[in-house]
Amino acid sequence: MRVLGIETSCDETGIAIYDSEQGLLAHALHSQVDLHNTYGGVVPELASRDHIRRVIPLVDQALKDAGMRGEELEGVAYTAGPGLVGALLVGVGVGRSLAYGWNIPAIAVHHMEAHLLAPMLEEDPPPLPFLALLVSGGHTQLMQVNAVGDYVLLGESLDDAAGEAFDKTAKLLGLGYPGGAAISALAEQGRPGRFKFPRPMCDRPGLDFSFSGLKTHALTTVKQNPDDEQTRADIALAFVEAVVDTLLIKCRRALDETGFNTLIAAGGVSANKQLRQGLREMMNKRDGQVFYPRPEFCTDNGAMIAYAGCQHLQAGHSQDLTIAAHPRWPLAE
Ligand code: KG4
Ligand code: ZN
Repeated sequence: MRVLGIETSCDETGIAIYDSEQGLLAHALHSQVDLHNTYGGVVPELASRDHIRRVIPLVDQALKDAGMRGEELEGVAYTAGPGLVGALLVGVGVGRSLAYGWNIPAIAVHHMEAHLLAPMLEEDPPPLPFLALLVSGGHTQLMQVNAVGDYVLLGESLDDAAGEAFDKTAKLLGLGYPGGAAISALAEQGRPGRFKFPRPMCDRPGLDFSFSGLKTHALTTVKQNPDDEQTRADIALAFVEAVVDTLLIKCRRALDETGFNTLIAAGGVSANKQLRQGLREMMNKRDGQVFYPRPEFCTDNGAMIAYAGCQHLQAGHSQDLTIAAHPRWPLAE
């Protein structure tokens, strides 16, 4: 079964074709990072307009790379939410219409479900059930994944997402947008022990997160210290250590509660070097295993949408003719 995947929920236009027998046949991506960088964050209207420009040429490119025509596909999957409404509507409108034109089923995909299934695209996929740590620019969630389509939300961020905390802290350290990878690189020059940031919400039970205090803590630390490169690196390190440590503490708790010994991490922040190292050490100690998507499939991409769409199509799900985007859409629904 061959499915086209279309991702336009934020600032990446991602297109891919997934075949249930042969795996990924093609994937193409256009990142809008340069477009939004000048503004220090995503400008929704510019994002929508750029998706309109890119989506069809990228679909053409993916079909060409896979050596096939649209009519040979068996489904079109697109991100229907959550995300920026204007950006989502581009992928939803184009995806639903292509499926209509080619007379094949359309599949509305939940962006976070696609992220959590992304490790399944790898050669060594995680065995079900597993615990999923979803860390992106818009979400931080711990999800109990019993089977494809059977998810229980165990905890989530009550304010900023982990990626958002990375981006905001990067901004005040004078790094560009998005700043996750840049802070991670700067932290490597940091000296441990100079600053110690709090581990929010770890001293009480539960699996929820709160990251907004960390950027405030970073701001206060920046203001109270000399403005030199070494200080900025030391602050970056203290910040990264606090985020990673907090995520590890909550993962450990969730693994204890569920009794699971398989963990996956997905979403943009799961590309983070320090987080991957911490998760690996933690799972080694527990005699468990941790799985990730390859770094390019941690951030937004079309491959995870095509894959998730293919799973739903195989389970007999498809979308009626309605063109509907859901900017807020809890995965449990
Ligand atoms: O999953 P994603 O592409 O988009 C959303 O669904 O939100 O995640 C983007 C987020 C950004 O906040 C970015 O700064 C963060 O992922 N990110 C990282 C790294 N690479 C991307 N954060 C920390 N370390 C990284 N290496
Ligand atoms: Zn995402």
